[in-house]
Amino acid sequence: MPSINTIGRCVACAAVSALFIGGCANKTPAGGSGAPPPPGAIIVGEYGSMTGDQSTFGVSTDNGVKLAVADVNKAGGVNGRQLSVVLHDDEGKSDKTSTVATLLATQDKPTAVIGEVASGRSTIAAPVFNAAKIPMISPSSTNPKVTTIGPYIFRVCFIDPFQGTAAAKFAIDDLHAKKAAIMTDSTNQYSIGLSQFFAKSFTANGGTVVKTANYTTSDATFESQLTEIKAAAPDILYVPGYYNNIGPIAKQAHQVGLTVPLLGGDGWDSPKLIEGAGGPGGALEGSYFTDHYSVDNPDPHVQNFVAEYKAAYNAGAPDALAALGYDAVGVLAAAMKSVAAPSDGNYDSDDYRAKLRDAIAATKDYVGVTGIITLGPDRNAVKPAVVLQIHGAGYVYKTTIAP
Ligand code: PHE
Repeated sequence: MPSINTIGRCVACAAVSALFIGGCANKTPAGGSGAPPPPGAIIVGEYGSMTGDQSTFGVSTDNGVKLAVADVNKAGGVNGRQLSVVLHDDEGKSDKTSTVATLLATQDKPTAVIGEVASGRSTIAAPVFNAAKIPMISPSSTNPKVTTIGPYIFRVCFIDPFQGTAAAKFAIDDLHAKKAAIMTDSTNQYSIGLSQFFAKSFTANGGTVVKTANYTTSDATFESQLTEIKAAAPDILYVPGYYNNIGPIAKQAHQVGLTVPLLGGDGWDSPKLIEGAGGPGGALEGSYFTDHYSVDNPDPHVQNFVAEYKAAYNAGAPDALAALGYDAVGVLAAAMKSVAAPSDGNYDSDDYRAKLRDAIAATKDYVGVTGIITLGPDRNAVKPAVVLQIHGAGYVYKTTIAP
């Protein structure tokens, strides 16, 4: 049996109330137990990095998930039944991801599952859920492989062949870069893929990749790679890694005298990104990354979400993870509402899950806070990317790149 410390159970409250905020929403499961799901609740499983090196990925996603669940419940739930989230912390680790995926699939009886953020971890868990015929929706895993694992695996975000192309296009058209260096986390499936897609597109559009270098997630010093990159005199340095490595890389780039703009992908997005690079005005000032949405989008749907999020969590603006977690639950709930209530009242049967799978697959023109979501035959969404520039303590919206 899982210990209470490895499972966070959170009854998403009927309203975004004080109980919701103080009770569970902002706590990691390692620190809180929470109440068991209420009788009759429909269980939504969730797994993510609530602790560890990429903890903001899990925490932000969970905040978005819980906010969406609270909205659904406030509006009467699904067929009059409340949704309840069962959350597992995978600590951002591969072995732990297999463990919690198996626990979710075999013990928690979820109707469907939300997770993971990191493509590598989604790729580990997806075969478990696909084999168990439990629909899984990744909010934010962008590596193409994830949804190829099987018919029960979906995502509500764009994929990296597009994200890499968007970054290359921006580098060439807006930054007028001709020479790029690329630094890849060779232990991260997402980073490897995005580096390749960027290089392909940058070269196809007339640019030259003058240097490539690798690092690993656990590295702390990057000076030797950065010194070699500097010697190759690139116009930009593309580093599609996760935020926890980007701060140190940016700082050390400055230390070796490499001052060209850094360009990254969605993996940079974290409330901890800028502080890792020495804070506002530090080593990342002026650098750019591609992402899923901008908090500055004036669309009222986006602004309502931003306001609701800030009020619910007494926090800063939601990052893309929170927005995608919110949209993943939105898509799931809309699909549930389009399926007839099971006559046996059983929301975790193969029969109901198969119908739900078909309904998720049929998602069309769902209006999310990260854009309009239509799932294609490959179970991926096709959506625009935004480019954000780091300025002070936050990001400035630069442009939108259409698929
Ligand atoms: N796209 C990243 C991956 O697939 C995860 C991510 C999404 C990180 C959005 C931050 C923001 O690994």
